[in-house]
Amino acid sequence: KFQKRIFSGIQPSGNLTLGNYLGALKRFVQKQDEGIETIYCLVDLHAITVWQDPEALRRQTREAAAAFIAAGIDPARSILFNQSQISAHAEMGWLLNCVARMGWMNRMTQWKDKAGKNAEKQSLGLFAYPTLMAADILLYHATMVPVGEDQKQHVELTRDIAAKFNHDYKTEFFPSPAPLIEGAATRVMSLRDGSKKMSKSDPSDASRINMTDDADTIAKKFRKAVTDPEPLPETLEGLEGRAEARNLVNVYAALADISPEQVIAEFGGKGFGTFKPALADLAVSKLEPISTEMSRLMADPAEIDRILGSGAEKADAIAQPILAKTLDIMGM
Ligand code: ADP
Ligand code: NA
Repeated sequence: KFQKRIFSGIQPSGNLTLGNYLGALKRFVQKQDEGIETIYCLVDLHAITVWQDPEALRRQTREAAAAFIAAGIDPARSILFNQSQISAHAEMGWLLNCVARMGWMNRMTQWKDKAGKNAEKQSLGLFAYPTLMAADILLYHATMVPVGEDQKQHVELTRDIAAKFNHDYKTEFFPSPAPLIEGAATRVMSLRDGSKKMSKSDPSDASRINMTDDADTIAKKFRKAVTDPEPLPETLEGLEGRAEARNLVNVYAALADISPEQVIAEFGGKGFGTFKPALADLAVSKLEPISTEMSRLMADPAEIDRILGSGAEKADAIAQPILAKTLDIMGM
């Protein structure tokens, strides 16, 4: 009943990281190149759930657009746009706030992680973030959502919201979108703490590789990455209980488009003194062409705005009829 359509987003809340690249951007490009209809969104309405300096947000939004294009998103084949330019996102977000249940929201682990013990001091928007994400996805009747592991629960919530809406209004209007979580790097971990995911919102710059870091910075961050002192094991099973080593092996595999087994076949028995520089060289060879292209694109912000504007027109043409029908189903 529903045609194959991919939707996903990234927050323009800071420097995009190697985690965003491997868990999201690189796979967004693969999906586009497979010929599936792809819609990608810079989710600035999500970014403002925590404080954003207005000028920085404006710059980061253009920078994120440049990262998409530099990584291989072709605005002629994918729709690339900025969430706040389409008012239907906020409207659909409200409608779904009235479908989702408080109990469901309270169970979201990202909310618990981000709010910590300080829930009373967080914005209401941070709590409602997952219903806005459901709105982003359902507004396009997307059937597949490529995300990292950290977003799986939010896509499952989206399915619950779609199912409740369909049930309550006796309709089959919304599809049940599937999370696409694939590859070796679905959860890239912090370089300083193997129990935390690498994130652009981590206050420690040393915890992440930014897509725009230069070669020396990348080499230095990998060199200083926290690991145990043992050499890499001869088999994959030997990575059991070695979260940091496992993470670096996964990152190498994802960057090189090989399996973790193949990485172990090449580096098993070698120490981090050998493996880390090889990893740094590989990361530089993949990221440097992208960041060079990003700088070139950033020199012409008007062109980026034009691309986002044209993407927004295409997105709006899909979103508006779906929003109108949703309101109609609800009696408005
Ligand atoms: P961040 O946590 O860096 O702010 P976002 O919330 O904007 O990232 O997420 C954008 C996309 O990048 C999502 O699909 C998310 O799952 C993915 N992603 C973010 N961090 C990682 C990571 N460390 N490993 C794999 N994927 C990630
Ligand atoms: Na996130």
